[in-house]
Amino acid sequence: MSSTRESLHGLWSSRWVFILAAAGSAVGLGNIWRFPYLTGENGGGAFVLIYLGFVLLIGIPLMVAETIIGRRGRRSPVNAILLIAEEESLSRHWSGLGLMGIIAGFLTLSFYSVVAGWSLAYVYFVLTSSFATANSISSEAIFTNLISSPLQLLFWHTLFMGSVIWIVSKGVSLGLERAVKILMPLLFVMLVLMTIYSLLVGDALGATKYLFATDFSSLTSDVILLAVGQAFFSLSLGMGALMIYGSYLPHDASIPRTCLIVGCVDTLVALLAGFLIFPIVFAYGLEAGQGPGLVFVTLTVAFADMPFGQVFGFTFFLLLTVAAWTSAISLLEPVVAWSVESKGWSRNSSSWLAGSVIWLIGILCLLSFNELKDFTPGGRNIFDWSEYISANVLLPLGGFLVAVFVGWRVSRMTIASEFGGNSSKLFSSWLFLLKYCAPIAVAIVFLNSSGLDLLFR
Ligand code: PHE
Repeated sequence: MSSTRESLHGLWSSRWVFILAAAGSAVGLGNIWRFPYLTGENGGGAFVLIYLGFVLLIGIPLMVAETIIGRRGRRSPVNAILLIAEEESLSRHWSGLGLMGIIAGFLTLSFYSVVAGWSLAYVYFVLTSSFATANSISSEAIFTNLISSPLQLLFWHTLFMGSVIWIVSKGVSLGLERAVKILMPLLFVMLVLMTIYSLLVGDALGATKYLFATDFSSLTSDVILLAVGQAFFSLSLGMGALMIYGSYLPHDASIPRTCLIVGCVDTLVALLAGFLIFPIVFAYGLEAGQGPGLVFVTLTVAFADMPFGQVFGFTFFLLLTVAAWTSAISLLEPVVAWSVESKGWSRNSSSWLAGSVIWLIGILCLLSFNELKDFTPGGRNIFDWSEYISANVLLPLGGFLVAVFVGWRVSRMTIASEFGGNSSKLFSSWLFLLKYCAPIAVAIVFLNSSGLDLLFR
């Protein structure tokens, strides 16, 4: 039997809503913006393969572990861990893991909102005429113009963050559920349509080779760290998003089954995005390794060329913004739930307060493309640092600690009861991956890469 404790913030109306919400959290800019650009920067196939390996062997088992903590504790990450630690007579210091997640959420959302702002800006741009005649040169100019204007970036970042805060302030069932139910399926359909188009008109063969030809010569310990980081980032692991969503999961839902579905959907969307972007990159001679602008520059060219490009472009960027929005909601929710529980603040004030702090950090991130462009301590600007520390340090570290906590500290009986089902084979395979594979792999990758330099710098 799973715990019968009740959530203070409400429950999802069914297991399907959890799947949609968790998929909404997982599927976002990580899949459509970050995965293609990292793949392009790191030479394709080998990066993709390592990423897929990490998703399967570490990512999905950790998703299960985080959801178990959430549903067992039925509180925000900090308090859920605290409750479980008390029940299991473990140190209260484990709740530090939840606090670390809050910091990771702040940092992640601050740069995430800036990129989501780009997507929002593109919804608007696509309707203007310069966009309709874009070619590979002018599409780069459109992107460069956008990121070099602090005021434009501030406007879109503010609009995006404001809408995230607003929906989180409305609460679980009213705000979140309604949003994900309609929009996630729509995004998926749109993505499939676009990918088919891109494969038909673009260089499908070149893209397939690029995505799957495994040339391990480009593989360094840093690339492996990036692949781990991307697996964590894309599956929303290591900062409590799944714990909080798990805490709203009905008692009778099977955690392994739901997590497997969410993990597969997330991976499928990332691969679809790869097959959407790269055929166009190669067909139009665009630069695969151009970095964060990749998706925007590439798709602009494609939309300019395709029939009904404006309609498609408008819908696509709108849905990308929505995907980012449902992920952003899950980045803000843990800290808001925590301050409602622990500080006794209302949901409304908690959302606006936490959201405003994130908005302020986001301003520093957006300035790193223009006014603060030359401020690059240690070779990275503020935006790059936020992205790096969040995805490559805090999320993997959070995941490592979750694996140790659930795999080694919480009693087998407790986790088995939340894991549910009657296949002891499935349970023991999962536990093996969680106990040994996840912590050891993350530790090795971490120790071998500049993640370590970063900690001891
Ligand atoms: N998974 C989200 C994406 O791919 C980002 C995210 C990371 C959301 C961590 C929540 C927690 O865009």
